[in-house]
Amino acid sequence: MALLEIRDIHTYYGAIHALRGVTMSVEEGEIVTLIGSNGAGKSTTLRTISGLLRPRQGEIHLRGKRIDGLRPHEIVELGVCQSPEGRRVFARMTVHENLEMGAFSRREKVPTADYDRVYDLFPRLRERTAQRAGTLSGGEQQMLAIGRALMSAPKVLLLDEPSMGLAPILVEQIFTIIKTINESGTTVLLVEQNALMALGIANRGYILQSGEIVLTDTAAVLAGNEAVQRAYLGGD
Ligand SMILES: Nc1ncnc2c1ncn2[C@@H]1O[C@H](COP(=O)(O)OP(=O)(O)O)[C@@H](O)[C@H]1O
Ligand SMILES: [Mg+2]
Repeated sequence: MALLEIRDIHTYYGAIHALRGVTMSVEEGEIVTLIGSNGAGKSTTLRTISGLLRPRQGEIHLRGKRIDGLRPHEIVELGVCQSPEGRRVFARMTVHENLEMGAFSRREKVPTADYDRVYDLFPRLRERTAQRAGTLSGGEQQMLAIGRALMSAPKVLLLDEPSMGLAPILVEQIFTIIKTINESGTTVLLVEQNALMALGIANRGYILQSGEIVLTDTAAVLAGNEAVQRAYLGGD
């Protein structure tokens, strides 16, 4: 049984039919990447999984339990957490308070080790633990958004364009950190426009075009696919 299974999802914004039958699955322990151009429906897919949008048709299952139709906080409690596009952090709260907010869904007392894990992944956040999040650089806010999502102890981490707007050196770092997060046991569904980097760390990928999955394969095969290279890898 797949950890996360998305079956024939149709999501609308009013009359706009944004997802037109998206089917995909994520196995426990994988990094799966969802690739597509601007407007393809990547964020809509993640927002539908997170329960922020209701699909008009289709089903989403987490370890066989149906989760579409649940409320966003219930989905977080079940272990699916999204780090939103555009690094939305709580600007007036400190770094540490942002992490506390991330842990809010958990019923148990959150062990200090969980904060340490985030601070170990992102040493820059440890140095800035008492700083207001709004005053962090773009890269640091992105780190905080990922760290905050990790504080919910997710089984599946949904990442929406974590590399967007970052300097190349930071992009490298973020991808290395995503790999580390995965190796420590968190399954990852990674949405990216930076297909080359995403396929570099992913096990498998799906190509989304105008709200439809048009291709799926192992990351290695997709990275070698000519049409994929032409469309998404800047090759010619
Ligand atoms: N809040 C919204 N209201 C209306 N249409 C939207 C909204 N958000 C996204 N869309 C439309 O849905 C489609 C998919 O958007 P999105 O999921 O944001 O794409 P991506 O993340 O792949 O760039 C686009 O055509 C976009 O214009
Ligand atoms: Mg998007």
